Amino acid sequence: MDIDLSKETLTYIDEVIPRYPQKRSAIMMILHAIQKEKGCLSLEAQEWVAEKLELTPIQVREVVTFYPFYREHPIGKRQIRVCRTLSCALNGGYRICEAFKKAFDTELDAISPDGRVTVEFAECLACCGTAPVAMIDDTLYENLTVEKVKDLCEEIKKETPAREVGASAAND
Ligand code: FES
Repeated sequence: MDIDLSKETLTYIDEVIPRYPQKRSAIMMILHAIQKEKGCLSLEAQEWVAEKLELTPIQVREVVTFYPFYREHPIGKRQIRVCRTLSCALNGGYRICEAFKKAFDTELDAISPDGRVTVEFAECLACCGTAPVAMIDDTLYENLTVEKVKDLCEEIKKETPAREVGASAAND
């Protein structure tokens, strides 16, 4: 099976496996490398990893679906994760999520029509004292209000080109 990885990623994978006493221990490093290149971990990619590490596909899938930072489906260019756990929920987390969705005319977990974002819920982001909070890619935003979300969305629109009409998310 060939999942069309770059030479760099393949080299990295071949170098990382022998660093571990057991092949299977390299699984998270390999999954990260593939997701970084491909944007997500398709079932084909998971099967490829299983073959590489002499595991069954379900053993790989258990890892992929257990950790929230792995994705099985492509997402928009920017990832917006809104906390929905208790403090954030009580302080307007759901309203914040709606504001992000509205700004990009999109649904939860979907790629927005302009390809710019995917809005998702996240569990506690460990900043409960400044709820409601959200992460945009790797940056945390605290004490959010609907007004702040509007400003953030304007910034995203300025910084992130919309996908060309007809282009697929996989080409981003
Ligand atoms: S509840 Fe949202 S950060 Fe903890």
